[in-house]
Amino acid sequence: MTDIPAIYQGKLETLEQVKVSPLSRAYTFSDSIYEVIPYFSGKPLCFKEHIDRMKESANLMSMEVNFETVVGDIKVLAETLTNSDGYVYYQISRGIDLVRAHLYEDDLEIERFGYAMPINFPSSPVSAMLCHDERWGKCNIKSTSLLGNVLAMNKAKSLGCQEVVMHKDGIMTEAGASNVFYFDSTGSVRTSSLSENILPGITREILIKALKDSPYCVKEGDCLISDFNDSPCIWLTSSTKGMLPLTTLIGTEYQLDESHSGYQEVVKLFNAAMQSHLEA
Ligand code: PDD
Repeated sequence: MTDIPAIYQGKLETLEQVKVSPLSRAYTFSDSIYEVIPYFSGKPLCFKEHIDRMKESANLMSMEVNFETVVGDIKVLAETLTNSDGYVYYQISRGIDLVRAHLYEDDLEIERFGYAMPINFPSSPVSAMLCHDERWGKCNIKSTSLLGNVLAMNKAKSLGCQEVVMHKDGIMTEAGASNVFYFDSTGSVRTSSLSENILPGITREILIKALKDSPYCVKEGDCLISDFNDSPCIWLTSSTKGMLPLTTLIGTEYQLDESHSGYQEVVKLFNAAMQSHLEA
């Protein structure tokens, strides 16, 4: 872990060498945004979409960021991934305070940090726990304010799960670090529509577009958690997971039907879309 390439304020070093101030607003207030960009054999998936979402997060947080510098940093990090699979984590905080203060100075220098992590992406199904969504009200911003996600996911971990599926008053929102899709009992593919309650996932968008002109065209809208009891297949989407089915969902009667032919078709369409994005 010690030789992971990392960049801090434009200086390339290793993750271990980077030293940050405890007065970074990322540290004291979670006043920061981030992206996770996946790389396959050294090629980024949907680079522009990730940068555009980060611009939107910065905009929603009233943070003025020079994105040419950000793109430059990410490209320097990505070069270290050469031909391997992995991801670049990139975080921007509003800056470093002189003394801790809720009210920030207008002339703070934006704080930039990122690292490049070579990994083999997971492909095995995971189990999850259903729980109430207790996060703040702007989950469409990809901010590092993830305490609600962290607490819920670690409660699920104590029950042997790797993820949670969250809901507000019986309407699904999303997972702790992924979006959620499922087949309902009528055979339709369903997912939550975009709102301030969920992150507009890049992988979510790839899948919706891939299924658009197929028999599995996704119905976006309110998704009742009661649908899960007779769903044959629920799955997660994210940049680091791709598409991963759930084996079980604690709190429901859901049980994965491994031989579900619709799901196999959806995976094929998704993989083809991923391939064409990587070749584009
Ligand atoms: N998480 N919803 C949440 C809450 C997420 O944290 C993520 C991604 C997603 C999926 O978004 P995308 O398809 O753009 O990766 C949905 C990243 C990978 C993370 O925090 O590590």
